[in-house]
Amino acid sequence: MYKILTLNQISKKGLNRLSTNNFELAENTSSPDAILLRSHKLQGDDIAPTVKAIGRAGAGTNNIPVSICTERGIPVFNSPGANANAVKELVIGGLALGSRGILDGISYVNSLSHMTDAGEMAKLLEKEKKRFKGNELAGRTLGVVGLGAIGSMIANAALNLGMDVIGFDPALSVDAAWRLPSAVQKMENIKSLFARADYITLHLPVLEETRGLVNLDLLDNCKPGCCLLNFAREEIVSIDAVLAALDKGKLRQFITDFPVPSLIGREDVILMPHIGASTDEAEENCAVMAADQISDFLLNGNIKNS
Ligand code: MLT
Repeated sequence: MYKILTLNQISKKGLNRLSTNNFELAENTSSPDAILLRSHKLQGDDIAPTVKAIGRAGAGTNNIPVSICTERGIPVFNSPGANANAVKELVIGGLALGSRGILDGISYVNSLSHMTDAGEMAKLLEKEKKRFKGNELAGRTLGVVGLGAIGSMIANAALNLGMDVIGFDPALSVDAAWRLPSAVQKMENIKSLFARADYITLHLPVLEETRGLVNLDLLDNCKPGCCLLNFAREEIVSIDAVLAALDKGKLRQFITDFPVPSLIGREDVILMPHIGASTDEAEENCAVMAADQISDFLLNGNIKNS
């Protein structure tokens, strides 16, 4: 019987896939055959000599020492695409936050909790609400950097909102290119995308080539008043460059799914606590995909997505 070490709360449906194969699940064991985890930061020393496979219930594998695993011949499975819909929906929410006075409008209404007369409140709001006026997304240009499972879903959704969509991917796979709607204009380089887009959303993994990719040079080149969204990985964007671009008015707003300490409290920044994939559905899909890959490898020697 294979023993699987689970290092985070993994969705029940994923765990059931393993237990129906008669695998033993343990939250603590020194001799697991495989490790199944979500965001736990795994160190090389945590990987017992008995481990034959690692599964991540999530897309990124930057919490796993992949090169050590490769040296030791341990496949690392992830769940690409399994949480793409959840991320897409949050990014569309981010676009709405970036185009309309939603957050300011809500906090203004909350600040009126002392008022008891609905008629008085309506009069006051009639006068004040022009402060929360925004712009429509339809007719604006969205630049999508990274056209994999998440980026291409966002491109599709933005087209349905009436946006013009341009895209760039430094490593566009044949599959991804095929999935991409033909209305998405592919740019030759990231600089030309930054120069044209009103909104830019990043969907790249963190790699040596993407770390700090969004730097001063790129942001100096963006269309003045542009809104940048980063729901991918924090390390892709230089925060110093973002601060400079916001201060110069190059960027109108930065919206990110990472609670960057030095940005807390700025009016031109919206920070979220990395909740892009935090839905019941995404957690379940990721856990099932990772668990199935571990099973298929341990039982049949098959390798997918590693
Ligand atoms: C992912 O890598 O799947 C997402 O960033 C969410 C997560 O870290 O779990």
